Amino acid sequence: MEQMEGRCVTDCERCPALVESRSRIVNGTGPADADLLFLGEGPGANEDEQGEPFVGRSGTVLDDALRDVGLARADVRITNCVRCRPPENRDPTKEELANCRGYLERELELVDPEIIVTLGKVPSEHLLDRSVAVTKEAGSVVDARIGESSRRVLVCVHPAATLYDRSQKETFEETIRKAAELSGAGEGSSGQSRLGDY
Ligand code: URA
Repeated sequence: MEQMEGRCVTDCERCPALVESRSRIVNGTGPADADLLFLGEGPGANEDEQGEPFVGRSGTVLDDALRDVGLARADVRITNCVRCRPPENRDPTKEELANCRGYLERELELVDPEIIVTLGKVPSEHLLDRSVAVTKEAGSVVDARIGESSRRVLVCVHPAATLYDRSQKETFEETIRKAAELSGAGEGSSGQSRLGDY
């Protein structure tokens, strides 16, 4: 049985391995009409436990970078490509990504963000439908066809990458700054998106 109420999936058993490994479905959080939406890969252990995306160490890195540009978690929408925790934190399979795609497209349609920031390789490749070298492409804005709409996607390294490789920290923080500016949400922003600058 599959059920979606607004932006939230309440019931789904499409992916047998994920149904087995999850303790709950982790839906997106944040304003229903956020200008800025962050897309991760899928819930990890902390997210599965707490029922919210990016609440572990990666979440702290994201929260810190948001704070540095004058934003709080409550100002942005945060969601994942798949809503159930893959076993042993493996990447979601192509099939699992496809099974969850409709839910993501529905959420994007309803929230209708100005900018989608893809956090890491899996979400970047999922939305752009090609291979993406995230470290090289971080900070670039790409138009992607998602469902019925064309959407602006800003490629970003995964926050966890900054924990293993300090040189990625700057790349990550610069991309978050750009995200805030593009969406018109950040500190010092005129309130208007300045997409033409990029
Ligand atoms: N990493 C992700 O990609 N998503 C989360 O929700 C947490 C960590």
